[in-house]
Amino acid sequence: MAFLWCCRSLLCSVTLFSVFVCLVAVAEGKHFKGFHVVHDEHTEHGGAFEEQWFTQKLDHFNGADSREWKQRYFVNESFYRAGGPVFVMIGGEGPANPAWMQSGTWLTYAEKVGALCLMLEHRFYGKSHPTVDLSTDNLRFLSSRQALADLAHFRTNMADTRGLTNSRWVAFGGSYPGSLAAWFRLKYPHLVHASVATSAPVHATVNFPEYLEVVWRSLASEDTQCPLLVKKASDTLVERLKDPKTYENITKDFNLCSKLQIQTEADSAYFLETLAGSFMDVVQYNEDNRGFEGVKGTNITIQVLCAVMADTSLGEPYARYAAVSRLMMDTFSMKCLDASFTSYLRDMTNTSWEGPAAGGGRQWVYQTCTEFGFYQSTDSPNQPFTGFPLVYHVKQCADFFNVSSEELAEAVAQTNEYYGGYSIRSSRIVFPNGSIDPWHALGITLDISTDLPAVFIKGTAHCANMYPARSEDLPQLVMARDHVFLVLQQWLKQ
Ligand SMILES: *[C@@H]1O[C@H](CO)[C@@H](O)[C@H](O)[C@H]1NC(C)=O
Ligand SMILES: *[C@@H]1O[C@H](CO)[C@@H](O)[C@H](O)[C@H]1NC(C)=O
Ligand SMILES: *[C@@H]1O[C@H](CO)[C@@H](O)[C@H](O)[C@H]1NC(C)=O
Ligand SMILES: *[C@@H]1O[C@H](CO)[C@@H](O)[C@H](O)[C@H]1NC(C)=O
Ligand SMILES: *[C@@H]1O[C@H](CO)[C@@H](O)[C@H](O)[C@H]1NC(C)=O
Ligand SMILES: *[C@@H]1O[C@H](CO)[C@@H](O)[C@H](O)[C@H]1NC(C)=O
Repeated sequence: MAFLWCCRSLLCSVTLFSVFVCLVAVAEGKHFKGFHVVHDEHTEHGGAFEEQWFTQKLDHFNGADSREWKQRYFVNESFYRAGGPVFVMIGGEGPANPAWMQSGTWLTYAEKVGALCLMLEHRFYGKSHPTVDLSTDNLRFLSSRQALADLAHFRTNMADTRGLTNSRWVAFGGSYPGSLAAWFRLKYPHLVHASVATSAPVHATVNFPEYLEVVWRSLASEDTQCPLLVKKASDTLVERLKDPKTYENITKDFNLCSKLQIQTEADSAYFLETLAGSFMDVVQYNEDNRGFEGVKGTNITIQVLCAVMADTSLGEPYARYAAVSRLMMDTFSMKCLDASFTSYLRDMTNTSWEGPAAGGGRQWVYQTCTEFGFYQSTDSPNQPFTGFPLVYHVKQCADFFNVSSEELAEAVAQTNEYYGGYSIRSSRIVFPNGSIDPWHALGITLDISTDLPAVFIKGTAHCANMYPARSEDLPQLVMARDHVFLVLQQWLKQ
């Protein structure tokens, strides 16, 4: 679940400020892969997470295609009591992080109910490589439908081999895997008894300007002036970008690795998106507790960013915005910021498993282009940023994968037709939802029925209820964890 990549992700857990860290990795000539070592099962968390491998079909929807590959999974049997349920943590758009096999809310539930715990890595991420490379032709085997069929086959096979056919199986996931948890129950109700779908964006949409609207509101809840100051700074920057004579100063102000060059719309959009990214990441992961995953800790919060934006001693809002960017770079010991679309394009079109975007960036953008959209555009007036409109995002689908805007729109509509979007109808799925998490805008935030309840957690960010408890957790977060457990306990009796 934890890893690193270069797009504005919806992970439960990426290394914070992924864009910055990835870009500095390029600047220093390292592979992004180098950073995965941080999360590697044998380095942190006391080691000894045994990887296991499961033989999986390449194409579940073509009986004439018998090609197979090996999918990675993890097991923790220490809580299992005979007759107990089986919990499956669903992997998402990055390497499955075995830290989840040692801590996390789901394990506290598992301990109480005597559950066997499994985690299956998502196809095409981490070490689960169904094909020899990430060519666009091979990526056609990457989809949520294939991933659910992987889960179904894994579930059936594990149940047979371990004698767990009559056990109650419960799926867990946060963020995109949260959606998969809900859809697993929806599409395979005979295989999974209940699901906990945390921070799950179940509604696909090409354009997702609401994300930045939530960023505005989350900044405003700290200080009403804060988003206004960000907007002012961002507007000033956009104005200056119109005049190439300013580029030298901008390069200095934002400590860019090479002199700013703006030849196309994408060049400026990528630069502006990179800067906005620090605010987006801080809001999405505000004060959460991902340290256990080996994610580098940071004390940068919404409060810290807004304090910098309010600091008149730094000069005009534009200068404070630059100060935020430099604060991020200092925090992550980065020498300079590479905000070049050209290098991003080069990295994203590298189809090698050793390539710079193979940590998940290329694969996830493929899934957004062929299933979900979710583009965090600046197309709403009620948000602080300017300059990375929907067209910029949509064009990447054509640039990277030869997917046209019509094909994208069609694919997103089909995703909602297939899963139901907000109108998902099923039973025994609980949807925890954090109020400051920008992704809640695409989630289930009101009970659909008593059998499809939402759990609202005021003041928490993306996936907060999944992380291990801490003494400083908000009381409503503590209550939400308990509430989800009560719901689960009831369902396990059904
Ligand atoms: C299973 O989880 C428990 C509790 O966190 C932990 O102590 C144990 O080491 C884990 N076992 C494995 C094999 O990871
Ligand atoms: C660049 O910054 C310097 C010092 O702040 C300022 O005097 C100069 O006018 C700026 N140049 C441009 C083109 O804005
Ligand atoms: C964050 O922590 C570091 C080291 O503990 C400290 O030097 C820095 O001032 C802190 N930053 C903020 C914004 O609190
Ligand atoms: C893809 O990335 C790998 C690893 O960084 C590199 O060796 C290879 O040359 C790249 N391929 C292309 C076509 O740039
Ligand atoms: C791109 O897609 C179009 C329409 O599907 C197709 O005709 C064309 O051959 C594709 N181009 C490449 C380079 O794959
Ligand atoms: C989920 O979060 C949204 C946004 O904060 C909130 O309006 C909604 O009431 C929450 N859902 C529930 C069931 O409380």
